[in-house]
Amino acid sequence: MTEPDIKKGLAGVVVDYTAISKVNPETNSLLYRGYPVQELAATQPFEAVAYLLWNGELPDDEQLAQLRLTERAHRAIPDDVRTAIDLVPLDAHPMDEVRTAVSLIGARDLAGTGSVLDASGSAEQNLERSIRLFAVLPAIVSYGQRRRRGLEPVAPRDDLDYAANFLWMTFGEEADEVVVDAFNRSMILYAEHSFNASTFTARVIASTLSDLYSAVVGAVGALKGPLHGGANEAVLHIFDEIGSAENVSAWLDQALAEKRKIMGFGHRVYKRGDSRVPTMKAALDTLVEHYDRPEVAALYDALESEFVARKGIYPNLDYPSGPAYNLIGFDTLTFTPLFVAARVTGWTAHIMEQLASNALIRPLSEYNGPDERHIDGYVADT
Ligand code: SDX
Repeated sequence: MTEPDIKKGLAGVVVDYTAISKVNPETNSLLYRGYPVQELAATQPFEAVAYLLWNGELPDDEQLAQLRLTERAHRAIPDDVRTAIDLVPLDAHPMDEVRTAVSLIGARDLAGTGSVLDASGSAEQNLERSIRLFAVLPAIVSYGQRRRRGLEPVAPRDDLDYAANFLWMTFGEEADEVVVDAFNRSMILYAEHSFNASTFTARVIASTLSDLYSAVVGAVGALKGPLHGGANEAVLHIFDEIGSAENVSAWLDQALAEKRKIMGFGHRVYKRGDSRVPTMKAALDTLVEHYDRPEVAALYDALESEFVARKGIYPNLDYPSGPAYNLIGFDTLTFTPLFVAARVTGWTAHIMEQLASNALIRPLSEYNGPDERHIDGYVADT
């Protein structure tokens, strides 16, 4: 009997088309609807990139103004959602708070919409739902950090764009332009990355014609894992363990001897470096200068150069974004929820694309359990 050609982890398997983004490891590039991500990060507000991912084109001034109006109108956390967040233990992981909040928002929005046959909704309804999740997640993430610090939530401000308002709600003060720009760039870089594990999870759920909220909740669960979105949090744990640049060699000796995965390095698709890293590293450099923290750059460079030299494995986006978020003042546990706030745009674009394709995702498996066997004394009905 010939062995089946099992593609563990679906590595290298092309399962469908997508028009949303193109990840090209050969050219080390990433296109969102045809635009190189570094050009978008350098020139666009995150709201415009969200519009691009959902609609396929960058917005004109009127379309952007309309999106901003809708986004501003839905920034505040509904009271009962805040009550639900307050029920989540303070020492639970913030990704559990985010997952819980999205689930309740979905239950409220879908209440009374009829049977499961109507769950998937219309394209218009799902675009509205996508914008509303995009709008409210910053308040959910910033409230999560503030409640863990024993602080009251800060109400959103309508005079601030998405990135500046996100920082305002988190820290209760207006951030400097250089910080807003670096944060805006990070959100654009995190927004979308084809069929990564959390996006594919969302597509599998959408492929059954389930609802958009269920698909986002599933994606949050997938992103939490340290092999995926949880890596940006794990990078800071590593930085805290190492302490400073001169400790890198000894730390790596031990980590590699223990066969540890060095978080923030490696990628299933990119094998010669993650196309987004140069842009995020440039943003990190502006923050290192702004906050006058040269020791962060020294540690970053020392670990990168030594690990690449020893293992030939390159940084992914989580490596520069972790220290960047730390410099801005986000708690380490807040990092992956930040990833959710950005990636919800890519997830919802893929959910809408999957719903439109209407193709159930159901791969095969090769059985390798016990041979057929029977219950003692069982006699089939004749
Ligand atoms: C994201 O898919 C996406 O696009 C994801 C993402 C997105 O935008 O959605 O880009 C975001 O998730 C980035 C990745 C964040 N994860 C981490 O930083 C966790 C650390 N990285 C590794 O776990 C790993 O690199 C993966 C999981 C990311 C990718 O692994 P692969 O492609 O499955 O490769 P592999 O694990 O089989 O590794 C091949 C070899 C192995 O050595 P051997 O067992 O063959 O001897 O390389 C080694 C691995 O042990 N290796 C590492 C390593 N990454 C790979 N060894 C130490 N540290 C690492 N980081």
